[in-house]
Amino acid sequence: MALLKSGKIISSVGAYCPSLAVFPIRASSWWSNVEMGPPDPILGVTEAFKRDTNPKKMNLGVGAYRDDQGKPYVLSCVRKAETQIAAKNLDKEYLPIGGLGEFAKASAELALGPTNEVLKSGRYVTVQTISGTGSLRVGGNFLSRFHTASRDVYLPKPSWGNHTPIFRDAGMQLKAYRYYDPKTCGFDATGALDDISKIPEKSIILFHACAHNPTGVDPRPEQWKEISALVKKRNLFPFFDMAYQGFASGDIDRDAWAVRHFLEEGHNIVLSQSYAKNMGLYGERVGAFTVVCSDAEEAKRVESQLKILIRPMYSNPPVNGARIAATIMNTPDLRKEWLEEVKGMANRIISMREQLVSNLKKEGSTHNWQHVTDQIGMFCFTGLKPEQVEHLTKEFSVYMTKDGRISMAGVTSANVGYLAHGIHQVTK
Ligand code: LMR
Repeated sequence: MALLKSGKIISSVGAYCPSLAVFPIRASSWWSNVEMGPPDPILGVTEAFKRDTNPKKMNLGVGAYRDDQGKPYVLSCVRKAETQIAAKNLDKEYLPIGGLGEFAKASAELALGPTNEVLKSGRYVTVQTISGTGSLRVGGNFLSRFHTASRDVYLPKPSWGNHTPIFRDAGMQLKAYRYYDPKTCGFDATGALDDISKIPEKSIILFHACAHNPTGVDPRPEQWKEISALVKKRNLFPFFDMAYQGFASGDIDRDAWAVRHFLEEGHNIVLSQSYAKNMGLYGERVGAFTVVCSDAEEAKRVESQLKILIRPMYSNPPVNGARIAATIMNTPDLRKEWLEEVKGMANRIISMREQLVSNLKKEGSTHNWQHVTDQIGMFCFTGLKPEQVEHLTKEFSVYMTKDGRISMAGVTSANVGYLAHGIHQVTK
């Protein structure tokens, strides 16, 4: 059977079939068994927001920084780095499988601190990855292949919505430990320590290095110390996800405190880093994955296996964003400017937290909103119930994830009053 240009259908023996000409034959579907999937819990919020025609609408779903005019913000150090890179007229050849060397080195130094013994002794490997998600996925696959002692990954309850599918798709089993206390909207130190003390030996435990997503609740240094000691006692394997270095307190060293403390205490951690938030390189997909090893020889073996793992996944990472990040980190005046800009973003968020609370008071809210200012980083875990979230979205076009998380980075001087009004209306 064939369809002629004229639209006539002829049979396989060349005869014209007038009866079939009106009803062209459709191939039976290969995908009739594919069910409609739900929208992504975080990125799906943006899709719903885009469909809304209310001029007052607010997208507080995805964690993406906005300036006080509500506009996406490209850091000035990024623009300058781009100009410097363009002037070099570089080629677009493939990067090595592990990415841009100067980026990977600068990234490890940023996280571990430039004088860290781990770096000096060369007992680590850092590969460039496709942002934080790609880093976690490479990490998940590496553990799935080589951490044969246990496939169990313990996540804080709650954790970033994408952690579960990343590790599940990498072949790991997902478990949880208590982390957030809904009664205080703060860290449940007793619950966390109690649960961690019962985790079977050699299991993997995931920590958010700072600015916990979605709760904005971080352990204090003395609590991290207790956690580190317990993790050592239980012989657990620590996996740090650091997606917000500098974005929590405005200070890159302060935000890396937990990671560095674990290293000082002798834990050979793995670490995921993202430059989406702290350099605003969201769509450039810049990240890194680091494995801290016992010695330099082990690091070489681990590196060889990471390359074997990455090659069939995406061959090698994209060059542009890594060049930008490396130029910023390795050029003293750009680095200085970057650190000021990170501080500026962190401070704007802190000031929005304060303004949200004062506007809620002005609205007449009698609830205790102290957690809004106690929490840290991009997100505020408001404590709103799913039905209140639904109400806020339907009545006020304020878009957020169902768990009551709002991205403080989407709040501005112009809309904070409207947000407070909406929150008060659904919580009074
Ligand atoms: C978020 O939690 O909103 C961000 O980490 C963006 C994402 O990919 O989910």
